[in-house]
Amino acid sequence: MPELITLDECEELTVKQVHDLYRSYVNRSQVSLMTSFGFGRELVERAEGARIYTRDGREILDFTGGVGVLNHGHNHPRILAARKRFQELRRMEVHKTYFSPYVAALSHNLAQLLPGDLNMSFFPNSGAEAVEGAVKVAYKYHGGRRNSILRSDISFHGKLLGSGSLTGGAQNHFQFPGIPGVGTFTYDDLESVRAAVREARTADGECDVYALLIEPFSASTMRACSAEFLRGLREICSAENIVLIFDEIYTGWGKTGSLFYFMRYPDLVPDIVTTSKSFGGGKSSISAYIVSEPIFRKAYDNLTDAMMHSTSTTYYGFGEETATAIEAVNIVVEDDYPRRARDIERVLAPGLQKIAKEHPDVVTDVAGAGALHGIFLDGGPKVLDLVARMAPGGFRNDPRFRAKLVTCAVINELHREHGIYTYYTLNGRNPLVVAPPLVAETEDLEYFLDSLDKTLAKGLPRLLTTFVREKVSALWR
Ligand SMILES: Cc1ncc(COP(=O)(O)O)c(C=O)c1O
Repeated sequence: MPELITLDECEELTVKQVHDLYRSYVNRSQVSLMTSFGFGRELVERAEGARIYTRDGREILDFTGGVGVLNHGHNHPRILAARKRFQELRRMEVHKTYFSPYVAALSHNLAQLLPGDLNMSFFPNSGAEAVEGAVKVAYKYHGGRRNSILRSDISFHGKLLGSGSLTGGAQNHFQFPGIPGVGTFTYDDLESVRAAVREARTADGECDVYALLIEPFSASTMRACSAEFLRGLREICSAENIVLIFDEIYTGWGKTGSLFYFMRYPDLVPDIVTTSKSFGGGKSSISAYIVSEPIFRKAYDNLTDAMMHSTSTTYYGFGEETATAIEAVNIVVEDDYPRRARDIERVLAPGLQKIAKEHPDVVTDVAGAGALHGIFLDGGPKVLDLVARMAPGGFRNDPRFRAKLVTCAVINELHREHGIYTYYTLNGRNPLVVAPPLVAETEDLEYFLDSLDKTLAKGLPRLLTTFVREKVSALWR
């Protein structure tokens, strides 16, 4: 018999044992990277609402928003109850040839909430799968006769081969093969979109673009498209019959102050929307694309193609995942999550602006909407550039090394001294993300702002010294 770790034994593993298992069986370098931060050296006992409780008794305020997953906070009681009911009633997860009332109801609910004829839904597991499903339906809609797809220069759409090749940000220092015919336009620049569409014309002047994919609010860079840009995109796509896809995987379910970011603009309707993250209420790994009915019908609505993409993947529309998503969406609507995000913005936005004014030596910018903000940090002694040049591997060529180091030092201090968990994005200008769950209280926001102010008041030399010292001692652990 092989010696396997049981679930009971797993829950008793020490942090050192977990690190060793990661080193041997998961990813050794991940251990080196993550143990630079206090949270890489702790294990979590439980999590509730906006808080994480560690094994060694610390209470941590989670301001990462679960990287988009935790609008409802950790372990929302209604989400737990929905899952418990599903389990106690021994509902079925698996088969696709028995119809699922959960898939039916969830699709219905999405059609009620989204504008125009965004009526038809598909439910895979990850954001990347939703993006690739959306791209496929657009390609099929054009019968394979068009060959180009446009994405913006700062986009993030996932990490599979297809979605990764549509990601246009600075994340990709290694090129994997991807889907063919990808053209790039400049974010929020209509002229650049027109030029990209022109460039993709066939020899006889026909439009060759089957889809245009964009995040109306880019969560990795905190930039938003203007209303004029989004309306201009709609016009161009309608005139050229290009399928317009809004990727709202991160920004859905109230996060930025409207149900989806684009919905703050009345009458603006894309052809497809992708969603995931808080769609699963913080528990369920579920995503969706919701496509306009005429596009879906032309692409797949015949007996030959009905199973081509929409219902054939193993985990498509799994029982407990879809039941959970029904509850998650109902909570968003009943508890008015868009309003909660706007209330959070009313405290966070002016608070961050004030901090930026008080610490101009380190804060270069702040930006955001609703409960999703970024604070851009840089500065510190010039000697850091020299350190970067001597650093191993990719760091040597990284022009953003100093900004990243400063941001990491602030994240480390917030966690170490104030019990606040934050992260920074790897894309674009690498902001420190301030994204409380929508169940956070006003006191949590005030505590965060006060802690950030105190952290920056310590001065970069002290923050950097602490961070580098901890990083070095982590290497010896
Ligand atoms: C806008 C956007 N699109 C796509 C994805 C990919 O989602 P996943 O990581 O679930 O594949 C993400 C993930 O962060 C995202 O933010």
